[in-house]
Amino acid sequence: MPDRYAVIGNPVAHSKSPWIHAQFARATGQDIEYLRIEAPLDGFARTVDELRAAGGRGANVTLPFKEQAFRYCGALSARAQQARAVNTLLLERGAAYGDNTDGAGLLRDLTVNLGRTLAGERVLLMGAGGAAQGVLGPLVASGVARLVIANRTPERARSLAARFPAGPLEVCGYDELAGQSFDLVINATSAGLTGSLPALPDGLFRAGALAYDMLYGSDTAFLAFARAAGAATSDGSGMLVEQAAESFYLWRGVRPATAGVLAALRAA
Ligand code: ATR
Repeated sequence: MPDRYAVIGNPVAHSKSPWIHAQFARATGQDIEYLRIEAPLDGFARTVDELRAAGGRGANVTLPFKEQAFRYCGALSARAQQARAVNTLLLERGAAYGDNTDGAGLLRDLTVNLGRTLAGERVLLMGAGGAAQGVLGPLVASGVARLVIANRTPERARSLAARFPAGPLEVCGYDELAGQSFDLVINATSAGLTGSLPALPDGLFRAGALAYDMLYGSDTAFLAFARAAGAATSDGSGMLVEQAAESFYLWRGVRPATAGVLAALRAA
């Protein structure tokens, strides 16, 4: 019997995680099965309990359940505590153990796959919702010279920032970005899902800047804006594959190679 894992979300039909983990399992010779489970919006805990009762060893958690997963767990990694959100469950020991591999996945994509050096960079993080919250800790710790969080609702950005050591962290509204420029601009808003884009000023990108959209698989209005402004661009496919690799490592103790899987995902 293969060890059972799953991705739990709602909706979850389009999740690439089952495919990614199947590639990892094949490449590393691990005997696992990986299911796709749509939990009812009011039934996350019940769904995890059922997976566990059926022998499930672990799960990835996606929208909108990452904060519920955080509350479900009896034990948490330091990075899950910092994010107050869980994307990876380990179900084999007594209490469910929760981790968050999103920030590590983003940093690995930026530094290894895209060859960026974050130390000393001026970074703008757009958004202060769940996606931003998951990656803020690792970004703060990465040695950036300046990390500005911009959000449509500035109060939400302020309360997110207040959870982290001040260091390079600043908060502002989009209308305060005029005259500022950045080496790296990360879109962690969900605006791209509706084809919209916060109003961004000209001159936002420094020479050699990268625009990174955490959404994957679509050319968002943000990436089109950045390209027109002369910036290099990337969607979030690499982050998706890297956070999955980090989850796989946590579950199986084996770190899968990611480059081939990422190339195949991009080509699909
Ligand atoms: P997620 O978990 O995907 O981050 P979320 O917690 O609902 O989802 O957060 C969505 C983020 O996208 C927020 O930062 C939101 O801004 P507000 O906090 O002001 O709501 C941002 N967002 C969504 N649509 C947007 C739009 N059209 N323009 C600007 N920001 C937008």
